[in-house]
This record gives sequence, C-alpha cells and structure tokens, in this order.
Amino acid sequence: MTTQLLSASNPSDIALAAQLLRAGELVAIPTETVYGLAANALDAAAVAKIFAAKGRPQDNPLIVHVADAEQALPLVKAFPFTAQRLAEAFWPGPLTVILQRAEHIPDIVSAGLSTLALRVPAHPAAQALLRAAGITLAAPSANRSGSPSPTLASHALDDLNGKIAAVLDGGPCTVGVESTVLDLTSETPLLLRPGGIPAGQLEAVLGQKVEMSPAVTSALPMEGAAPSPGMKYRHYAPRAALTLVHGPLQDFIGYAEHENPDGLMAFDSDAIPEGWPVLRYGDGPEEQAKQLFARLREIDALGWQTAFVRCPSKEGLGLAVYNRLLRAAAFREVKV
Ligand code: TXA
Ligand code: MG
Repeated sequence: MTTQLLSASNPSDIALAAQLLRAGELVAIPTETVYGLAANALDAAAVAKIFAAKGRPQDNPLIVHVADAEQALPLVKAFPFTAQRLAEAFWPGPLTVILQRAEHIPDIVSAGLSTLALRVPAHPAAQALLRAAGITLAAPSANRSGSPSPTLASHALDDLNGKIAAVLDGGPCTVGVESTVLDLTSETPLLLRPGGIPAGQLEAVLGQKVEMSPAVTSALPMEGAAPSPGMKYRHYAPRAALTLVHGPLQDFIGYAEHENPDGLMAFDSDAIPEGWPVLRYGDGPEEQAKQLFARLREIDALGWQTAFVRCPSKEGLGLAVYNRLLRAAAFREVKV
C-alpha cells in the first residue's frame, strides 16, 4: 500500500483523511502529545489493522479519542462526577480517563477489559478531523510497537510507511509525551501513566489524593495481569543500550570517562568537555518533554550502541519524562 502524506493545513486533506477513516483505513494523525495511529473505534476490523501495522501485543488496549465530553457519554456505562470535574478542567487536553465501557464497544478496542480509555485531544487538526469524520477514533501512538513515540509526521512515516493509508502532517507535537492515564473505576483515582497533565494538577481539581501505580517507577513482571497492560512492555526504546545517570554533572562526566559510552544525552546548559558526542534535550520539564522522543530516535540514527543520559527532575511534567526514559533504558539506572 502507498502511504499518502497529507497536510493538516489543507482543508481538502482533512476531508480526505476523514473519508479514509470512515472507510475503515488507518491514518496517522497529529495530537498535542504524540502522533496517533487512528481507526474507526466502532469498526472491529479497522481496529484490528492497528495491531497488525504496529506489531502491537493483542492484550494492550487502545485509547478512544472523541471530539468532546458529550461524545464520550454513550461509550461508557457511567460518567462519574470525578470524570466530569476533570473533563471540565483538562479537556480538550493530554488527559485520558479509564471508565467502565458500554456494551457496544468492540472487545478488541480494550483488549477484552471491561473498561475503556477516553481522551479529547486538543490539537486543532485532531479536533477538525474528529468533527469532519463524525466517528470516534481508537488511536495508540503511531510508532512501531516498542520504539520511541512519534512527535513529527516524519517519525510516523519512518515507522509505518507502506502499512497505513495516510499520515496527516500537523507539525511538531507541542507537549511531546503522551497523555496522563488515570483510572477512575475505583474509589481512589489511580495514576497508571504520568503524562501531559501532572498528577498535582489532577489532585488540585479533584480535591483528593491520586494514588500512583507501582508501574510508574518500577518494572512490572511480563507475566500476568497489569493494571495498565502497556506498562509491562519494553517501551520507547532506541536500539542503543541507555543508562539513566543520577547525580551532579561533574560526576556524570567522570563516570562517562570511566565507562566510555558511545555518546551522551544531556541538558542544554550542561558544560560537556570537547570530544564527547552529545545530544541535548533541553532544560526543564517542558522542553525535555517536547524533545525527548526525537532525541531517542537520533541516538539510533547516529548508530550509538551505548549512551549515558542525564536524569531529569521528577517534578511536575518531569515525572512523565523520567518514566519514559526509565523504560527506554530498560530500567538501567545508576547513582554517581
Ligand atoms: O497521548 C496519548 O495518550 C497518545 C495519543 C495518540 O492520544 N496515545 C497513546 O496511546 O499514548 P498508547 O496506546 O501508546 O498508550 C495507551 C496506554 C497504554 O499504556 C495502555 O495499556 C493504556 O493506555 N490503556 C488503554 N486502555 C486501557 C484500559 N482500559 N485500562 C488500562 N489501561 C489502558
Ligand atoms: Mg505508545
């Protein structure tokens, strides 16, 4: 199949993308977090193509994207007060909520679970597309399963060219890490994946503590049920072996001089001695979130086999950056 490259700034391309989706095809679409690989959520055959194109494990459920909270209502058994408060505060935006799913949602969308993940994306092209198509869209990140999420249309094309009908180019993603995933199916809201909305902001709106799944900062066993199945797979990973290094810059450099990795991933403000191949991923959580996945792809493009990464702050949006890096490093962390 030839993958068409469409432009979100061209209204006839939005119309074409909408038409392809209505016809059961796959289209990679821009969102404010990362590019998503979209299919009609109520068409089981179309959703099955997502798993095939990505090489995604069958037990990893998908997020359903809707134009607004109202469109979410018929997809779930109930839309509790907590969900209403969060939707008012953060939709459209990088928050996904897990609720009990309605009977008519195909099993394949949520991999057989009784729940459903829902999100209203803020990107104007995603909004325009949802409204033009008039359907809801199941969409995981538009990367090959396991590799870094795409934050540019070219990333999605690199991974999925020839396997999907089209890529809709809406420019670079402004958030850069995926949505926060919050499970609202039990008494206490449970953070399954840190993301674009920091947990502190959720707690401020809810006036209630949010519990953090152990999966956020530690490895899950590959066997058995996980609260968020996506968390048990090796993820976001370049081919290179990464090591996440905690500690002051001088000790980071000393450790690198001793171990001699192929390259370093550091902050913009880090003074790195001449001679080290270095990729920089910004200063502070917002910049780091925006740049992280593109840098991880560059590590492979440069052919590095090993890289040391300066550990980001875990505050606010930083927790999402740290969580992705930890998985990209297959949980290899050292303190210097
Ligand atoms: O920002 C995002 O969330 C992007 C854009 C495209 O919207 N999407 C995204 O999808 O990151 P994906 O499939 O790469 O990650 C979805 C995560 C996975 O960890 C999955 O296991 C979890 O959400 N998830 C989906 N449905 C779930 C459910 N019913 N219960 C628990 N976890 C669920
Ligand atoms: Mg993903």
